[in-house]
Amino acid sequence: MKKFTLILLPVLLAGAFMLFREGKGVNGTVTLYKTESCGCCALWGDHMKENGFRVQSVNVEDLPLIKSQYQVERSLDSCHTAIIDGYVIEGHVPSREVKRLLEERPNAIGLAVSGMPIGSPGMEMDGHPGDTFDVILFRRDGAHEVYASYH
Ligand code: CU
Ligand code: CU
Repeated sequence: MKKFTLILLPVLLAGAFMLFREGKGVNGTVTLYKTESCGCCALWGDHMKENGFRVQSVNVEDLPLIKSQYQVERSLDSCHTAIIDGYVIEGHVPSREVKRLLEERPNAIGLAVSGMPIGSPGMEMDGHPGDTFDVILFRRDGAHEVYASYH
C-alpha cells in the first residue's frame, strides 16, 4: 500500500502542477501567428486572455505563407492568423464568437474579420464610435456566411 502511494504521489503532484499552470485558460489555447511589430495583434491576444483563453504567440516573417497554409482567402485577410482546436481565426474576431464556434463546431475552416475595423477587439480607439463589421464563417467549399454583425 505504501509503495503504491509513493508511486502515485508524484503523478498527483504533476497533475496539480499542470492544472495550476493552465491557470484561467478554460477555453483552450490559441496559437497566434503574427509579425513581430504588430501591436494590435498583441492587443487581440490580450482580449482573448481576458476572456479565458490561453494564448501562445508566434512571431513569423512570412504571414501570407501561414494564411495560404490554413486556407485563408485573400478577401478575408487581416493582420494575424490564429488557430484553436482545428479552426482558423483570422483577424480581430471577438472572443464570444470564438466561444460560440467551439460550442457549435460547424463544418468550416473558421472565422474571419477582414481588414482591421476600428472598434473590434484590439482595435479600440478613444473617441471613435467604431465601425460596423461582420464576422464571417468560411467553409472549405469557398462559401462565406455572416456569423455575426457588430455595429
Ligand atoms: Cu490588427
Ligand atoms: Cu493582428
